[in-house]
Amino acid sequence: MAQNLDIKSSDIETLVRFASDNKIDLTVIGPEGPLASGIVDAFQLKGLRVFGPNKAAAQIEASKVFAKNLMHKYEIPCAKSVDFSSYEEASKYLKSQQMPLVIKADGLAAGKGVTVAETREQALQALSDIMDARLYGDAGNSVVIEEKMTGREVSTFSFADAYTSVPMVSACDHKAVYDGNKGPNTGGMGCYSPPFFLTPELSTEVTDRIMNPTIQAMIRENKPYQGVLYGGLMITDQGPKVMEFNARFGDPETQVILPRLKSDLLEIMLAVTDNTLKNINMEWSDDACVGIVMASGGYPGNFKKGFPITGLNDIDKDIMVFHAGTKLDSSGSIVTDGGRVLTIVASGKNLAEAREKAYNNISQINFEGCHYRRDIALFE
Ligand code: AMP
Ligand code: GLY
Repeated sequence: MAQNLDIKSSDIETLVRFASDNKIDLTVIGPEGPLASGIVDAFQLKGLRVFGPNKAAAQIEASKVFAKNLMHKYEIPCAKSVDFSSYEEASKYLKSQQMPLVIKADGLAAGKGVTVAETREQALQALSDIMDARLYGDAGNSVVIEEKMTGREVSTFSFADAYTSVPMVSACDHKAVYDGNKGPNTGGMGCYSPPFFLTPELSTEVTDRIMNPTIQAMIRENKPYQGVLYGGLMITDQGPKVMEFNARFGDPETQVILPRLKSDLLEIMLAVTDNTLKNINMEWSDDACVGIVMASGGYPGNFKKGFPITGLNDIDKDIMVFHAGTKLDSSGSIVTDGGRVLTIVASGKNLAEAREKAYNNISQINFEGCHYRRDIALFE
C-alpha cells in the first residue's frame, strides 16, 4: 500500500517531522535538489535512517567544478577542462580557443545548464546565459569549459557505503524528444538495459577505472559517499570517460534497471545505510528491459494537463507502467499531470523481444496529445 503526501521535496523540516512523528524506518531520497540542500544530514541529525549521500558528498552532482577537480586529482578519465568564476576571464578564454567546446554551469540547472557549442558564437552565448544573464541563478557563479567528446553515452550506477561500492547493471537513455535523436533534449524519452555495446571488458573497465576509484576518492577526501552513484559516461575511442556524476538513481534508467535486480532492494539499501554493503551478494537477471516514455503534447515545451488516460487496464499482466506525471481527478480517474506522463516497461529474453512487447502494449494506452518515440532500443 502506498500513500502520496502533499509535502514539497524542498520542505526538509516538514519531511523530517513527518518521518519522526510516524516512525518511518527508512527514507529514500530521490531528487538532487534536497540532497544538495542537506536533507540527509537533517534526517541523520534526528537519528532517522535515510538512503542517499549527505550534503558534502552530494557535491559530486551539485558542483561540476568540485566533480572535475576530484576527477583531475585522482586521474579518473574525463574530458580535459578548465573552470572560471569570472565572466570576463571565461569569455577571454573562449575567444582564444578552437571550437567545439562544452560549456557547463557549475551548479544544478535541472539538466539545462550544458551546451555543446559547435561555434564560438554559441559558446559565448551559453557563457553569457550562465554567468551574465544568470538564467540558472547561483548555479552560474562558476562555469566548466571542457573538450567535446564523441562516442556512445551510457549511464552506469553503483551502490556505495562509507567503505565499499558494488556496481549495478547499466542502461542507455534516449534524451532527444523525436525519433532519430532529433529535436531538443528532454529528461529522457525512453531507455534500455543492458546497453548492447557495453562488453564485459568495458563494464569491468568502467568499474575499475571510474566508479570504484571515485568512491575511494570521496573517502580519501573525507566525504564518504553513501547511496547510488550515477556515472554519465561517454565510451570514446580512448575508452570510457566521465561526462558527469549524479548523486541519485537516473530517471528513466532506474525503471529498466531495478526490474533486473533479483536480490532484495530493501536489504541492499539497509546495508548501505548501515555500512555493511560488503556482506551483500547482488544478483541481476540476464533479461533485457525496455522502457518507453509517453509524454504530453508539446513537451519538452509548453503542454496542457488534465487529459484522461485510457487503456491502462488493457495491457498484458507482465508489463510495468510507471506513473510520473499523473494524478487522480475529482471523480477518481487517472489524468495527465506533467510533461513525462508514464513509462511503459517490458522485459524479454533480449532487447528485441522486450522492445516488441513494450510497443505492442503502448498502443493500448492513450490520452489527448500523447507522443512517444518509436525507436527506443532500435539501433543504427
Ligand atoms: P551532463 O549534464 O554533463 O551529462 O550533460 C548533458 C549532455 O550534454 C550529455 O548527456 C551529453 O550529451 C552532452 N555532453 C556533456 N558533456 C559533454 C562532453 N564533454 N562532450 C560531448 N557531449 C557532452
Ligand atoms: N536520465 C537522466 C537523469 O536522470 O539525469
